[in-house]
Amino acid sequence: MAGSSAPPSSSAANYDLPWVEKYRPSKVSDIVGNQDALSRLQVIARDGNMPNLILAGPPGTGKTTSILALAHELLGSNYKEGVIELNASDDRGIDVVRNKIKMFAQKKVTLPPGRHKIIILDEADSMTGGAQQALRRTMEIFSNSTRFALACNTSAKIIEPIQSRCAIVRFSKLSDQEILGRLMRVVEAEKVAYVPEGLEAIIFTADGDMRQALNNLQATYSGFQFVNQENVFKVCDQPHPLHVKSMVQNVLEGNFDEACSRLKNLYDLGYSATDIITTLFRVIKNYDMPEYLKLEFIRETGFAHMRISDGVGSLLQLSGLLAKLSIVRDTSKAA
Ligand SMILES: Nc1ncnc2c1ncn2[C@@H]1O[C@H](COP(=O)(O)OP(=O)(O)OP(=O)(O)O)[C@@H](O)[C@H]1O
Ligand SMILES: [Mg+2]
Repeated sequence: MAGSSAPPSSSAANYDLPWVEKYRPSKVSDIVGNQDALSRLQVIARDGNMPNLILAGPPGTGKTTSILALAHELLGSNYKEGVIELNASDDRGIDVVRNKIKMFAQKKVTLPPGRHKIIILDEADSMTGGAQQALRRTMEIFSNSTRFALACNTSAKIIEPIQSRCAIVRFSKLSDQEILGRLMRVVEAEKVAYVPEGLEAIIFTADGDMRQALNNLQATYSGFQFVNQENVFKVCDQPHPLHVKSMVQNVLEGNFDEACSRLKNLYDLGYSATDIITTLFRVIKNYDMPEYLKLEFIRETGFAHMRISDGVGSLLQLSGLLAKLSIVRDTSKAA
């Protein structure tokens, strides 16, 4: 892995390295968030006896990073010969499982006592059922010498017999605070010029995904050399939440026409109905309004999102949603 070798010598090379790689934690203890999951992994790193593992959870939360760090901590200088990494870009049909994985599992490697060879299967939920069946048999046969670490977004896509042979470690989205802490570190290290609202915008667009946060930070910085709200939303090409927020505010204040014309502005800028409704949902979720109203708003937004996903992404559909929200607001006023 790029992150584990010596740091690049020239600063130009440094600049070219994607920040997600440059700042990928190399120790389990440097990974932020998901306390329970990470302390389980730390216990494994300390005791040395790794069970077969499934790490499951949303993108950009540190699953791959955790597995790589754990394997490095367990095997140290034996990493090269003791670990094989296969991700979705490698062909992982039945043949690969039968040949490459089996061959590695059979290979004799001298490791410190109590340690095992590790087979890392990233994005394991994209493996076919047949390949998973073959994997399961390999897992059984070589359980003495070899352990498997699978990373995936949904553990339900891993067949039951594999699940039952693995300890499942669940990851969830990172909190705004966790992402902010990390962003601050990178911003300082790279001497990025920013205003706090710019980082807030990055956190908003990343929605709990650290990879996205770091990529958006780097994209904004390399595009504009300055991180503020405007630049972030330009780079991320998402509707500006402030525009969406003022739309919601207009609905809440009974200015339906004004809300509609703001919606039309956004739509005319070229944002798709999906872009708009995704941002609308996040804005409503964070909006300071009575609980009952918020629940109803989210409910209606959910229905509209479903219709849009079914293919009806018209301006009329979105205007219809604003009308619904206005009615909800009126009836809750009357009650
Ligand atoms: N919890 C975290 N702490 C610190 N950095 C993180 C964390 N999660 C992700 N990152 C950063 O984001 C990058 C991508 O993370 P990683 O590859 O571990 O995500 P993942 O959970 O495997 O996502 P995917 O499901 O898309 O494979 C890392 O290189 C690292 O820079
Ligand atoms: Mg991954």
